[in-house]
Amino acid sequence: KTGLTTLDYGFVNTAATRSAITYIDGDAGILRYRGYPIEQIAQNSNFLETAWLLIYGDLPSASELANFDDRIRHHTLLHEDMRRFFDSLPHKAHPMSVLASGVSALSTFYQDSLDPRDPEQVEISTIRLLAKLPVMAAYAHKKSVGQAFLYPDNSLSFVDNFLKLNFGNMAEPYEINPVVSKALERLLMLHEDHEQNASTSTVRLVGSTEANLFASVSSGINALFGPLHGGANEAVLSMLGEIQASGQGVEKYVERVKNKEQGVKLMGFGHRVYKNYDPRATLVKESAHEVLAALGVQDDLLDIAQELEHIALNDDYFKERRLYPNVDFYTGVIYKAMGFPTRMFTVLFAIGRLPGWVAHWREMNEDPATKIGRPQQLYVGSPARDYPRR
Ligand code: SDX
Repeated sequence: KTGLTTLDYGFVNTAATRSAITYIDGDAGILRYRGYPIEQIAQNSNFLETAWLLIYGDLPSASELANFDDRIRHHTLLHEDMRRFFDSLPHKAHPMSVLASGVSALSTFYQDSLDPRDPEQVEISTIRLLAKLPVMAAYAHKKSVGQAFLYPDNSLSFVDNFLKLNFGNMAEPYEINPVVSKALERLLMLHEDHEQNASTSTVRLVGSTEANLFASVSSGINALFGPLHGGANEAVLSMLGEIQASGQGVEKYVERVKNKEQGVKLMGFGHRVYKNYDPRATLVKESAHEVLAALGVQDDLLDIAQELEHIALNDDYFKERRLYPNVDFYTGVIYKAMGFPTRMFTVLFAIGRLPGWVAHWREMNEDPATKIGRPQQLYVGSPARDYPRR
């Protein structure tokens, strides 16, 4: 590094990044969706109402929301050839790879809704993606556990339909657990947008070339997959499990982190923007206690997570580096209690983040100043030199 900090490399401040969707104050730990504090959204809204807010800019009227919900419910079915597409993928494929492939494949099935300059095609591709992503995510889950795919049930809400697609089966009726339904709705809302993080910036950059929505979101899913980003929620569970299996206690793991042992990080801690407690982590932590108590689940990993958090928040090494729990630190414990396999955790993050990706893609698509995205490079290579005479 030439005396520049990570921050100089990490942030590109250009007009192309202007946005009216989400506001974050990393020092104060503030997050607002179209001006509404995340705490009030989590308390009062639901997933589709918040999706409308992010995409269209204001809260919907009751009839707008009902119509939005109805349009989405009636676009949940996938083309039958998509099932064969999923069948052709390896059994042990990671669900995030299955999801990214499936979303990209949508642009082969819906060639009538690919033009970003046609408002009607933008609208129908928005509805199709919001409706079909959860179904494909559930297919990825069923594929990974060797169970039959289920068809969507349009009589159910967005979240309940998703739960049934994941945990229902052909042999018996499936009963929605209201505790799980309410908690998952809240978790998905907390993930809906987060300004221009790595995956959202990817969606904006790919979309800024006038690539279609499916291609842009598929790129965002691949960016989210990384363990430093959305993949962190899966990595946190692995870390907690490693601490539990080691029998050496939390303090030993913290020492390894502080000694910067190769690849040993406090997953679910730290953030590019939040140098304070991630407001979402506070809300997720509340849900963790509520859900596990309501489900009667006792998970030692939650106790380990709390002990890890307590030690880190009181240790100068983490305080000096302003490292606090982020949104990924407690989510995995809840998803595990709900019955999702660990490899589905980042898929759940993607379902939550979809409305934000769509909102940013549409906002960028409507603002000529943001096309074509081309981050300004900071050249640190060789100065001009002549080719050696031989
Ligand atoms: C998400 O951007 C978003 O908004 C993302 C997200 C969203 O909603 O889209 O919020 C979702 O991706 C949350 C982040 C999930 N990732 C993780 O939990 C992985 C672990 N976290 C780290 O990889 C790290 O904290 C980052 C990449 C998230 C952020 O890095 P920072 O804050 O810019 O920190 P840095 O890389 O500049 O490091 C500063 C110091 C370094 O130590 P020194 O070299 O100064 O001695 O802090 C250390 C780092 O080594 N550090 C950590 C650490 N994170 C930073 N040390 C141990 N464990 C960590 N997690």
